Amino acid sequence: MAKSPQFTCTACAATYTKWSGRCENCGEWNTIIEEKPLSAGPSSKSLGSTRGRAIALTDLSTEETPPERTLAGVAELDRVLGGGLVQASALLVGGDPGIGKSTLLLQAAARFARNGLKVIYISGEEAAAQIRMRAQRLGLTESPVALASETNLRDILTTLDTERPDLVIIDSIQTMWADNVEAAPGSVSQVRAAAHELTSFAKRRGISVIMVGHVTKDGQIAGPRVVEHMVDTVLYFEGERGHQFRILRAVKNRFGPADEIGVFEMTGRGLVEVKNPSALFLSERGDPAPGSVVFAGIEGTRPVLCEFQALVAPSPHSQARRTVVGWDGGRLAMILAVLEARCGIPFTGLDVYLNVAGGLRITEPAADLAVATALLSAREDVSLPQDCVLFGEISLSGALRPAVQTENRLKEAQKLGFKTAMAPSSAKQSQINGIAVRQFGDLAGFVGDVFGAD
Ligand code: TYD
Ligand code: MG
Repeated sequence: MAKSPQFTCTACAATYTKWSGRCENCGEWNTIIEEKPLSAGPSSKSLGSTRGRAIALTDLSTEETPPERTLAGVAELDRVLGGGLVQASALLVGGDPGIGKSTLLLQAAARFARNGLKVIYISGEEAAAQIRMRAQRLGLTESPVALASETNLRDILTTLDTERPDLVIIDSIQTMWADNVEAAPGSVSQVRAAAHELTSFAKRRGISVIMVGHVTKDGQIAGPRVVEHMVDTVLYFEGERGHQFRILRAVKNRFGPADEIGVFEMTGRGLVEVKNPSALFLSERGDPAPGSVVFAGIEGTRPVLCEFQALVAPSPHSQARRTVVGWDGGRLAMILAVLEARCGIPFTGLDVYLNVAGGLRITEPAADLAVATALLSAREDVSLPQDCVLFGEISLSGALRPAVQTENRLKEAQKLGFKTAMAPSSAKQSQINGIAVRQFGDLAGFVGDVFGAD
């Protein structure tokens, strides 16, 4: 039986019988490609009918030596990598244009080169002279990093084969061009082919490869999602243009914890690591103000304190606005619904703005209580004590759920001079690490206690 061709979206893997310019499932343009069936033609048999090679099997107890790692010597970078760069690993670093990816990777290249790795930096975007100028500005001209400006993947692979570096940096994967693929550079098929060639070549030769990937408007790495599956580690470099903070976040890591962050500051001389992010995120806090609360959060393995700011005002529109920066919009809607349904506090007819100060993006559900408090504080025009932190997840029933790593959160708060914490009632003591912990079982009880019965 002749197989009809199958078309697959490279972004979401939806399948179609016909090609079209736009995927109906995910809405992406130009992502649908034809996939040739493996056994084409009427005479071909199924895979199982002809014998292949028997695979050698092992068991789970076989001793495995841990992979060799090299430290950059920059704690913020090494932690995000899960304890240094793993030999023969493939990484993808995504981020908005101009956020500082090339700066970060040039600095990392110099660090790794100084720590004994043979490093090649290949840019498809900038001329070697431009990179040298940046290196000069960053004070890295003495570092033994080999440089090239090239986009032809075949030439790059040949060079890597003769040079045999330990690490190659490709800036960026969207500019690479594989001459065996008939598509324009930057297209889905080119990005997929280039990433596949590079990672499989690097793995075979024991070379680590770091690829830069541009990010689309909606925050995904441009090109097929399959690139993210091909690599061992996916890092996002994020930050707000107006702020000097930059956050390197591990969203996938086969060699370490995901969700780990590294915090940097963009200065005139490149990126400088921030050893105490909490102090930095809270540094712009002024006098107590309604709508401002401090959340004691955990990012990866580290506690990070940050400020949530809310503004609630009567809406001039028939449909009130809900605007969120740095947190999830769906989660905000949920908190507003719980406040209305469980505590009888409606936000109908009120515009709600919520912002995480400093350009940080928070994903932890434990921020719920801080968000609810910021909203209430703004709505009631009541400021919270300056020396108070909050954390705790809110369930749909209005109950407060315990958060992980309570002690670490409180320790960080104490270090920064906070005196009280409001938390779910799982904390066993009322005084931990020198901080008075006020415990609450549900949101209604919390609201009655902190804001007076409403
Ligand atoms: P870049 O690394 O080129 O960003 P990307 O590769 O992500 O597109 O960084 C661009 C911005 O960083 C640019 O606006 C200038 C700024 N910058 C500094 O502020 N200080 C520096 O030392 C360097 C090299 C860049
Ligand atoms: Mg760049």
